[in-house]
Amino acid sequence: MSHTPPTLWVLHGPNLDRLGRREPAVYGHATLADVDAACAEVAAEHGFALVCRQSAHEGALIGWLHEAADAGAAGIVINPGGYTHTSVALRDAVASVDVPVVEVHLSNVHARESFRHVSLTAGACVGAIAGLGVEGYRAALRFLARLAAD
Ligand code: DQA
Repeated sequence: MSHTPPTLWVLHGPNLDRLGRREPAVYGHATLADVDAACAEVAAEHGFALVCRQSAHEGALIGWLHEAADAGAAGIVINPGGYTHTSVALRDAVASVDVPVVEVHLSNVHARESFRHVSLTAGACVGAIAGLGVEGYRAALRFLARLAAD
Protein backbone atom coordinates (compact mmCIF):
# COMPACT_ATOMS: atom_id res chain seq x y z
CA MET A 1 0.00 0.00 0.00
CA SER A 2 1.48 3.38 -0.94
CA HIS A 3 1.74 6.04 1.72
CA THR A 4 1.91 9.75 0.88
CA PRO A 5 4.54 11.52 2.99
CA PRO A 6 3.45 14.62 4.92
CA THR A 7 3.94 17.76 2.89
CA LEU A 8 5.54 21.13 3.56
CA TRP A 9 4.76 24.07 1.30
CA VAL A 10 6.91 27.06 0.32
CA LEU A 11 5.15 30.08 -1.17
CA HIS A 12 7.10 32.91 -2.78
CA GLY A 13 5.52 36.27 -3.56
CA PRO A 14 6.14 38.94 -6.20
CA ASN A 15 9.55 39.53 -7.78
CA LEU A 16 11.11 36.50 -6.10
CA ASP A 17 11.22 34.82 -9.52
CA ARG A 18 13.86 37.48 -10.32
CA LEU A 19 16.25 36.29 -7.61
CA GLY A 20 19.83 36.06 -8.81
CA ARG A 21 19.31 39.05 -11.10
CA ARG A 22 17.32 41.23 -8.73
CA GLU A 23 19.37 43.63 -6.56
CA PRO A 24 22.02 40.98 -5.79
CA ALA A 25 23.66 43.26 -3.21
CA VAL A 26 20.41 43.01 -1.21
CA TYR A 27 19.09 39.54 -2.07
CA GLY A 28 22.24 37.62 -3.00
CA HIS A 29 23.06 35.56 -6.07
CA ALA A 30 20.94 32.47 -5.46
CA THR A 31 18.12 32.01 -7.96
CA LEU A 32 14.61 30.91 -7.03
CA ALA A 33 15.50 27.45 -8.35
CA ASP A 34 18.47 27.40 -5.96
CA VAL A 35 16.20 28.36 -3.05
CA ASP A 36 13.67 25.68 -3.97
CA ALA A 37 16.46 23.07 -4.29
CA ALA A 38 17.77 23.96 -0.81
CA CYS A 39 14.22 23.65 0.53
CA ALA A 40 13.69 20.28 -1.17
CA GLU A 41 16.90 18.98 0.41
CA VAL A 42 15.81 19.96 3.94
CA ALA A 43 12.30 18.58 3.43
CA ALA A 44 13.66 15.26 2.16
CA GLU A 45 16.14 15.02 5.05
CA HIS A 46 13.18 15.18 7.41
CA GLY A 47 10.97 12.80 5.42
CA PHE A 48 8.59 15.41 4.00
CA ALA A 49 7.37 16.03 0.48
CA LEU A 50 7.62 19.64 -0.68
CA VAL A 51 5.46 21.92 -2.82
CA CYS A 52 7.07 25.20 -3.98
CA ARG A 53 5.09 27.91 -5.77
CA GLN A 54 5.69 31.53 -6.77
CA SER A 55 3.32 34.22 -7.89
CA ALA A 56 3.16 37.97 -8.24
CA HIS A 57 -0.59 37.76 -7.63
CA GLU A 58 -2.03 38.25 -4.17
CA GLY A 59 -5.08 36.13 -5.00
CA ALA A 60 -2.93 33.21 -6.14
CA LEU A 61 -0.96 33.27 -2.89
CA ILE A 62 -4.20 33.40 -0.90
CA GLY A 63 -5.66 30.51 -2.91
CA TRP A 64 -2.53 28.42 -2.33
CA LEU A 65 -2.67 29.03 1.42
CA HIS A 66 -6.22 27.67 1.38
CA GLU A 67 -5.24 24.79 -0.91
CA ALA A 68 -2.30 23.83 1.31
CA ALA A 69 -4.56 23.77 4.36
CA ASP A 70 -7.26 21.77 2.55
CA ALA A 71 -4.60 19.29 1.40
CA GLY A 72 -3.47 18.75 4.99
CA ALA A 73 -0.08 20.51 4.74
CA ALA A 74 2.16 20.00 7.76
CA GLY A 75 3.46 23.57 7.55
CA ILE A 76 3.90 26.51 5.22
CA VAL A 77 6.84 28.83 4.65
CA ILE A 78 5.87 32.10 3.01
CA ASN A 79 7.93 34.96 1.69
CA PRO A 80 5.19 37.40 0.76
CA GLY A 81 7.67 39.87 -0.81
CA GLY A 82 6.21 43.36 -1.01
CA TYR A 83 2.76 42.12 0.07
CA THR A 84 4.27 41.68 3.53
CA HIS A 85 3.96 45.39 4.03
CA THR A 86 0.60 46.00 2.35
CA SER A 87 -1.73 43.03 2.35
CA VAL A 88 -4.49 42.69 4.92
CA ALA A 89 -6.05 40.02 2.70
CA LEU A 90 -2.90 37.88 2.80
CA ARG A 91 -2.68 38.25 6.57
CA ASP A 92 -6.33 37.19 6.85
CA ALA A 93 -5.58 34.17 4.67
CA VAL A 94 -2.67 33.14 6.92
CA ALA A 95 -4.93 33.56 9.96
CA SER A 96 -7.68 31.54 8.27
CA VAL A 97 -5.64 28.36 7.91
CA ASP A 98 -5.14 25.86 10.69
CA VAL A 99 -1.56 25.16 9.61
CA PRO A 100 1.61 26.65 11.13
CA VAL A 101 3.01 29.33 8.83
CA VAL A 102 6.52 30.82 9.09
CA GLU A 103 7.35 34.08 7.32
CA VAL A 104 10.79 34.33 5.73
CA HIS A 105 12.64 37.29 4.24
CA LEU A 106 16.01 36.95 2.55
CA SER A 107 17.02 40.48 3.51
CA ASN A 108 16.95 42.05 6.95
CA VAL A 109 13.83 44.14 6.41
CA HIS A 110 14.40 45.87 9.78
CA ALA A 111 17.68 47.35 8.55
CA ARG A 112 16.07 48.76 5.39
CA GLU A 113 13.52 51.48 4.53
CA SER A 114 11.01 52.20 7.29
CA PHE A 115 8.07 50.96 5.18
CA ARG A 116 9.64 47.49 5.36
CA HIS A 117 9.74 47.53 9.16
CA VAL A 118 6.05 46.73 9.35
CA SER A 119 4.81 43.27 8.43
CA LEU A 120 1.04 42.89 8.21
CA THR A 121 1.42 39.16 7.74
CA ALA A 122 3.98 38.17 10.41
CA GLY A 123 1.52 38.62 13.28
CA ALA A 124 -0.63 35.82 11.88
CA CYS A 125 2.41 33.51 11.56
CA VAL A 126 3.98 31.34 14.27
CA GLY A 127 7.24 33.20 13.68
CA ALA A 128 9.31 35.20 11.23
CA ILE A 129 12.92 35.10 10.03
CA ALA A 130 14.63 37.99 8.25
CA GLY A 131 18.13 38.61 6.99
CA LEU A 132 19.54 35.07 6.90
CA GLY A 133 19.29 34.67 3.12
CA VAL A 134 18.54 31.16 1.89
CA GLU A 135 19.45 29.82 5.34
CA GLY A 136 16.23 31.40 6.62
CA TYR A 137 14.16 29.05 4.45
CA ARG A 138 16.16 26.06 5.69
CA ALA A 139 15.69 27.09 9.32
CA ALA A 140 11.95 27.64 8.83
CA LEU A 141 11.49 24.22 7.24
CA ARG A 142 13.52 22.47 9.95
CA PHE A 143 11.36 24.18 12.56
CA LEU A 144 8.12 23.15 10.84
CA ALA A 145 9.33 19.57 10.35
CA ARG A 146 10.15 19.28 14.05
CA LEU A 147 6.86 20.89 15.02
CA ALA A 148 4.96 18.37 12.91
CA ALA A 149 6.89 15.49 14.48
CA ASP A 150 6.05 16.59 18.07
C1 DQA B 1 11.66 40.45 0.84
C2 DQA B 1 11.65 41.82 1.54
C3 DQA B 1 10.49 42.67 1.05
O1 DQA B 1 10.51 43.94 1.68
C4 DQA B 1 10.60 42.89 -0.46
O2 DQA B 1 9.48 43.60 -0.92
C5 DQA B 1 10.77 41.62 -1.20
C6 DQA B 1 11.67 40.60 -0.67
C7 DQA B 1 12.88 39.61 1.26
O3 DQA B 1 12.86 38.42 1.00
O4 DQA B 1 13.86 40.15 1.79
O5 DQA B 1 10.24 41.44 -2.29
O6 DQA B 1 10.50 39.74 1.23
